[in-house]
Amino acid sequence: MMENINQLKEKHNQYSQAYPLQNLSEGEMAIYKKLEEFREKLRFPAIKNDIGSFFNYLIQENNYRYIFEFGSGYGHSCFWYFVGGNEERLKSVILTEIRDDLEEYYLKNEFPNSWREKIQYSVGDSFEIIQELKPPIDFLLIDGQKALYREFIEIAWDHLSGGATIAIDNAFFKGSLLEDGLASAKATAAIRDLHQWVHEGEKNKRWKSCYFPYADGLILLNKTIY
Ligand SMILES: C[S@@+](CC[C@H](N)C(=O)[O-])C[C@H]1O[C@@H](n2cnc3c(N)ncnc32)[C@H](O)[C@@H]1O
Repeated sequence: MMENINQLKEKHNQYSQAYPLQNLSEGEMAIYKKLEEFREKLRFPAIKNDIGSFFNYLIQENNYRYIFEFGSGYGHSCFWYFVGGNEERLKSVILTEIRDDLEEYYLKNEFPNSWREKIQYSVGDSFEIIQELKPPIDFLLIDGQKALYREFIEIAWDHLSGGATIAIDNAFFKGSLLEDGLASAKATAAIRDLHQWVHEGEKNKRWKSCYFPYADGLILLNKTIY
């Protein structure tokens, strides 16, 4: 195991990416390695290990059971919901992916059947899939198209339980909103608008929000019942 950690540390050149792997069991490590293989092959912008393990902690700590993802790829972020024996607690994990070439990798990953039984992988548009849902979601990961984040949260809002957490990954560009030229004008305008809107929601007591400067930035909103 240590060898793996050291190799990965070297590869990522960042202890924060290697550290979360220390707690994985041998079986989980095997699943993780396959996901990494896909990430490299597809050059896919999968979730980072530090953020994944943070989600795992958040979900276990709050006893969240119903998870929905806007943008799931082949299931890399989903891995982090299950590790540490959390499968017993989870009731339903809904993965949505608009690209139709990634399901084949989801099916080829090494998730055990006990995980797959709780996962519903849908190829399609998250905006449509979320509207068909019955049970309230208590953890929502937004990891699709930046320009649509705000619109998506509004649509998802009535499908969230009181106390649900919304995680918005890559909420900044390279940790910054301020530098021009990091992204297209349209994407920059959308992300500025998102931040203004998050701030207004906080002022209006719609949610509690907080920003973590991990990687390209993570925003958490908690749907608070006052
Ligand atoms: C950053 S990647 C997701 C990474 C994934 N959460 C992981 O950690 O492996 C964003 C994904 O969102 C998908 N996506 C974009 N718009 C979408 C939509 N409207 N519905 C479903 N998926 C969408 C993209 O095709 C892309 O695969």
